[in-house]
Amino acid sequence: MKIKVIIVTLLTLFLIGCSVDNIKQYIPMLTKTDDTLQKLDSGKAVVQLQEELISLGYPIEATGEYDENTVWAVTDLQLEEDAIYVNGIYNDSVQYIIEQGLAKKFIVQSPYYVPKPEQPDVYTAIIENPYEILSVVNKEFALPSDYQPLDLKVPNVRFPFEEDLPQKQLRKEAAEALENLFAHAENDGLHLFAQSGFRSFERQEQIFTAFAEQDGEEAANKYSARPGESEHQTGLVMDITSESVNFQLTTEFGDTEEGIWVAKHAHEYGFVVRYPKGKESITQYDYEPWHLRYVGTKAATEMKNNNETLEEYLSVTK
Ligand code: DAL
Ligand code: ZN
Repeated sequence: MKIKVIIVTLLTLFLIGCSVDNIKQYIPMLTKTDDTLQKLDSGKAVVQLQEELISLGYPIEATGEYDENTVWAVTDLQLEEDAIYVNGIYNDSVQYIIEQGLAKKFIVQSPYYVPKPEQPDVYTAIIENPYEILSVVNKEFALPSDYQPLDLKVPNVRFPFEEDLPQKQLRKEAAEALENLFAHAENDGLHLFAQSGFRSFERQEQIFTAFAEQDGEEAANKYSARPGESEHQTGLVMDITSESVNFQLTTEFGDTEEGIWVAKHAHEYGFVVRYPKGKESITQYDYEPWHLRYVGTKAATEMKNNNETLEEYLSVTK
């Protein structure tokens, strides 16, 4: 009897051993993919990415969901390795960094470029990973007051003024996407103008204080964000305009040829009209047809197709 038990146990262990080996062979350690992976994605490819990130030293779990911790590890790796774009999205260049790291037996250690989120899967009042391209910055979730992105640049587009002001800047990835959007508009015979992009916490404080003195805090906060709560501080937003509305930021822009064109094409370049008409109760801001937020083409296209705001897309409505 005892011998039988031992034989069955040994046989079982042998079979388990075989299947583990099979799984290891079935999921190769390094796999290039043409696809991107980002928040809301899940499945085997995500597990594989997470296992690679764990091998690199990131203290995350292979949950199969592209969660806050995965976004964090990818963002940190992009900052660590001077990646072309820092956005928390996995793509071929991230895979290349991972492969190089694994080949060199490189181990990432604390302190990280971005501190590890303390409450993964729970949004906190202060955004912990402001570099993420899908960061929600609104009346619930604010940016750290000292956050100023490191990759700001002036896009090569038309501005209705000459001065070299900080508001001309956008983060690199968004700046290049804006150039492509504006170039497409030019091809279609339309001239778009960039009016106001990056704003520091301090600059937003000056702007909000001035509007609050003029209209009262509550009224001002329907069209102007409190410091820390403005998407302009992310460097992922450009307010745009046209000559047909005298370069003003006005709702009439939405009815101009340029405004209609932008609403139709912005998603092709990764931008969304962030405060649409009819969604005021969700965004908690008035309609702003001029305020373009960069979220990347995948999210922008899905949001447009489903008529969703960023809050709805990421299920963080109040
Ligand atoms: N006008 C938008 C809400 C801002 O101030 O960021
Ligand atoms: Zn704006």
